[in-house]
Amino acid sequence: MTQHRHPLFARFYVRTGPMLERRVGEHRRALLAGLAGRVIEVGAGAGANFAHYPPGVTGVLAVEPEPYLRRVAEEAAGRAPVPVEVVDGVAERLPAEDGSCDAAVVSLVLCSVADPAAALAEMRRVLRPDGQLRFFEHVAADTPGRRRVQRLLDATVWPLLGGGCHTARDTAAAIEQAGFTLARLRRLEPADTGIPFPTAPQILGIATAPAERP
Ligand SMILES: C[S@@+](CC[C@H](N)C(=O)[O-])C[C@H]1O[C@@H](n2cnc3c(N)ncnc32)[C@H](O)[C@@H]1O
Repeated sequence: MTQHRHPLFARFYVRTGPMLERRVGEHRRALLAGLAGRVIEVGAGAGANFAHYPPGVTGVLAVEPEPYLRRVAEEAAGRAPVPVEVVDGVAERLPAEDGSCDAAVVSLVLCSVADPAAALAEMRRVLRPDGQLRFFEHVAADTPGRRRVQRLLDATVWPLLGGGCHTARDTAAAIEQAGFTLARLRRLEPADTGIPFPTAPQILGIATAPAERP
């Protein structure tokens, strides 16, 4: 999948990972707390979440399209406290059966996927009825001025950084539009995570899939 090769971004992300994790580790633990059963993690990157999966998780299918990040994630999977299988794939076409997962996890991913609506529809498809979507994502700012700056960055220099990231997405709204119900939503600021504007604020939460299959 050549469109998902981002060699410079991937190496930069892995290099700067430890710095990010010092502040973000607690939010990754909150993201995954209480999960149980079969989990699909979409856009797993270098596998920074793997260490934080709780013991009730019986298996994680970690989907990652970027080859360098996938290799690093495979190493992280070997150290994980629960079984993790790392596979090639994209959010818009997940390699899992309908209703086969108890939970789906995304962290800092819905900013980067080419088609967030398609990705969320896929997560709904693979989740069982009442399954959980756990998310930790940076989103559009609260004030019109900051949102304007984010939109300007997205239209100009931000794509040059590679990785496909967008700063101005309203991901909470996209989750609801995909048919999920927001059960828990916390807004985090740079003081909470160390992640600065324009990739702040972030949202951390749980959304539930409908009780009935579509
Ligand atoms: C900023 S990194 C976050 C990685 C990891 N989830 C974390 O929390 O550190 C964004 C990730 O999204 C992945 N990604 C981008 N587009 C994707 C897509 N269409 N499907 C699946 N993953 C994608 C990238 O390859 C990268 O691993």
